[in-house]
Amino acid sequence: MARTSAGPRSSWWRSPATRALAGLATVAATAAVLVTAPGADAAASTLGAAAAQSGRYFGTAIAAGRLGDSAYTTIAAREFNMVTPENEMKPDATEPNQNQFNFSSGDQIYNWAVSHGAKVRGHTLAWHAQQPGWMQNMGGSNLRNAMINHIQKVMAHYQGKLAYWDVVNEAFNEDGSRRSSNLQSTGNDWIEVAFKTARAADSSTKLCYNDYNIDNWNYGKTQGVYNMVRDFKSRGVPIDCVGLQAHFTGGSSVPSNLQTTISSFAALGVDVALTEVDVTNSSTSQYAALTQACMNVARCVGITVWGVRDSDSWRSNESPLLFDGNGNKKAAYNSVLNVLNSGGGTPTTTPTTPTNPTTTPTTTTTTPGGGSCTASLSAGQSWNDRYNLNVSVSGSSSWTVTMTVPSPARISATWNINATWPSSQVLIATPNGNGNNWGVTIMHNGNRNWPSVSCSAS
Ligand code: G3I
Repeated sequence: MARTSAGPRSSWWRSPATRALAGLATVAATAAVLVTAPGADAAASTLGAAAAQSGRYFGTAIAAGRLGDSAYTTIAAREFNMVTPENEMKPDATEPNQNQFNFSSGDQIYNWAVSHGAKVRGHTLAWHAQQPGWMQNMGGSNLRNAMINHIQKVMAHYQGKLAYWDVVNEAFNEDGSRRSSNLQSTGNDWIEVAFKTARAADSSTKLCYNDYNIDNWNYGKTQGVYNMVRDFKSRGVPIDCVGLQAHFTGGSSVPSNLQTTISSFAALGVDVALTEVDVTNSSTSQYAALTQACMNVARCVGITVWGVRDSDSWRSNESPLLFDGNGNKKAAYNSVLNVLNSGGGTPTTTPTTPTNPTTTPTTTTTTPGGGSCTASLSAGQSWNDRYNLNVSVSGSSSWTVTMTVPSPARISATWNINATWPSSQVLIATPNGNGNNWGVTIMHNGNRNWPSVSCSAS
């Protein structure tokens, strides 16, 4: 795997454990990291290392059945720093019989990935396809409860381990309406129930909606998904990211407005990623264009191709990947690497040095019931649209911190806490066993004043 030092946004997809260690050191570390940021060094020679220069990742789908192929694993280990199990974490793989779970293949990929320095993106928890037989024949409240149980159990198994989870996959029709499925027939709220269940099951992983044909901003399906994400953000339904599968195969090609689509989703306060990229005949210009579109949007966090070699692809007859069947780098590989090494061209939302709130950090102590605790805030990394705050709690180890951000700012992510959300402006945090240093990401939406915070000990 690429092991280069990470760029300024690397903390964005660091593991929860690493984030915990980073803690309050983030402020100091940020300044040092920014000095060596994009483009400062010689060009990187692998996809993962090149992407890491701008704090992004470059990933691949991995199939457990190919992990015994050393040509495959040599390329995968060298080039990629994010891994998506191609089929092994899907419902038919993880819950073949109702409430009997099988994580052997998923674990095999997870273990391989982390032992080679890669993060893992879980794929996928709720989907109309690749359901186990027992689920396909279900409906109504039985299916709703089975979906909830599936999300809870699978996420519990991988608790704290995955960088992202595709919570819901491919739930929209091409015209932007909801796709008919047994899941949809349980009620239109099934998607938000899935996300709320997921947040409660593991607050450390980022929760994504993932779909294909949502690359063209003018397309009905893109607008349907965009409106859902906007609605979720406005109502405080927990969603952290949108995956554009970006399958440019079977005659579809990269739209000229792909960057507009990415930046429009990002402006809602979610991470965006290209999650399953492949391109018919590996057009070099299309691969360069999709990479550039991601590099030009600060919150496009990474790109994943849907397989290693052409021979590994679900559409191998279209030769759509970056390595040929013999494991040779194709021309498209070089076009992607060059764009990654270019440092992102002219970003539409350029990451800046921190411009966090201008007033003094807030510290509040309350002492109900004799106990006492203090919550101290400090500024973390910041970008044009959002900033991180680090929180350190001292005193009682049994604390509850309530944080309220000033409207229209919104809290979009947390780490190292159990979180509940009375609204998207209010966060209630309690310890999750990872200590007393934790953090939040806040979309400032124009208001960079400090949030108010109070600490209650019990
Ligand atoms: O493992 C069995 C094998 O034992 C059996 O002999 C063989 C016979 O058909 O099937 C094998 O399973 C196949 C599996 O891939 C592993 O190769 C399934 O039939 C086949 O349906 C399955 O296809 C996967 C497809 O999702 C199913 O929907 C592809 O590998 C996988 O690349 C593809 O991935 C999807 C994403 O999850 C979502 N977005 C679209 C993308 C492409 O379709």
